[in-house]
Amino acid sequence: MATTTADREQWGSRIGFILAAAGSAIGLGNIWRFPFKAGENGGAAFVIVYLVCIALICLPYLFAELALGRNSQKNPVGAIAAIKQGTPWKLVGGLCVLTGVFILSYYGVVAGWAVGYIFKGAVAPGVESGMFFETFIADPARVIPLLGLFMLLTIGVVYGGVEQGIERWAKVLMPILLILMFVVIFRSVTLPGAEAGLSFYLNPDFSKINGTVILEALGQAFFSLSLGMGAMITYGSYLPKRENLLVSGGYVALFDTAIALLSGLMIFPAVFAMGQDPSEGAALVFVVLPEVFDAMPLGGFVGTVFFILLSIAALTSTVSLMEVVVSYFVDETQWSRAASVWIVGGFTFAVGLPSALAQGGSDLFTNQLQLFGQTGFLNIMDFIWGSLSLALGALLLSIFVGWVWGTGNAIDELQQGADGGFQGTLPTVWAAFLKYVCPIVIAVIFGAIATGVI
Ligand code: PFF
Repeated sequence: MATTTADREQWGSRIGFILAAAGSAIGLGNIWRFPFKAGENGGAAFVIVYLVCIALICLPYLFAELALGRNSQKNPVGAIAAIKQGTPWKLVGGLCVLTGVFILSYYGVVAGWAVGYIFKGAVAPGVESGMFFETFIADPARVIPLLGLFMLLTIGVVYGGVEQGIERWAKVLMPILLILMFVVIFRSVTLPGAEAGLSFYLNPDFSKINGTVILEALGQAFFSLSLGMGAMITYGSYLPKRENLLVSGGYVALFDTAIALLSGLMIFPAVFAMGQDPSEGAALVFVVLPEVFDAMPLGGFVGTVFFILLSIAALTSTVSLMEVVVSYFVDETQWSRAASVWIVGGFTFAVGLPSALAQGGSDLFTNQLQLFGQTGFLNIMDFIWGSLSLALGALLLSIFVGWVWGTGNAIDELQQGADGGFQGTLPTVWAAFLKYVCPIVIAVIFGAIATGVI
């Protein structure tokens, strides 16, 4: 029997929800993607634009996803159907579920690399990083088992359910993550020559801001907060009515932003201290940082710690990607959680195989496949699902909440549990952001991504 609202699981505590949702938001996006995007797009100037995007676009939109989820107590498809039954709007929920599967499939591949790198210091100490990276990610005998391992870890957590699985693990893993980050930051900022990195990262040169920087910052902000594919609808659906969505959502955005900023603090001082190039791109974490680790005292230990940390952050994100899909099957079909988790995990692993083979493992998936100006299966998947689909999902969901469900209903939901803290002009301002600012700005990013400007 499909689950009814009455027997649906809920988070056990406020902090449990905040840590689980922050765990979803904090991932490869913060620690790997944010620093390399900042490095490529002008350093501190990018950081400032990013912060403005989080505050003005992502935060108002995050409240809309949380309100929709808690109101319906359903997965993204069920949440939309509960409000507008029998209309094509349900397809937007379907898009969320599909996006979850497909992002998970290639995100799991990169997460597998992070796990593999935990052992790099032990198996290949001092091997030239660029060479090591290229051979490592091209080797099917390593990347495929690592993808499988990462899927199993994700399955293990999601199998446990909301309170006993996701919440319990997030409460342990997230504080460990924070402690490990401070260890690496301490090492990084105390290296001789670290000041140049701090200045690149913290002193903005406003002449560096242009259209591309703004669009990149916005896209990064959505990806980082796990917005546009119903992850926050799903996590919001396990929240009780007494919960203050604005305060909890605010904490999630705060933690996510703080971890992104701390990641920059971890990486840029070290990169500059070692005379490396901050605009190295996607290789920043996997190629430049290991060189940094190799060349510093206690580097083997710090490197291992760093990749444990990256794997933990990725795991709490893959858990949320899988939960979106699993909650759909648990709510809408006869499948049990156990069956859903194994079927979704197995299917995603299979879909992930071409991405695992897309860095040299197979010529077809690495070089021959080209689409939308992207080369290789993994890059194409990231472009379609990690950029295009998130922007489209966020656009349609902000229109759905703002115009179809209506901001009046959403405000009623947000006021529940807010202890009178969401009154006066605040709701009106929020409604204006959700109905006008968010869709217009998101439509601009969507158009820019779709037409290849970014
Ligand atoms: N927010 C995650 C990160 O920054 O790594 C990625 C992500 C997770 C995106 C979950 C979307 C999502 F639903």
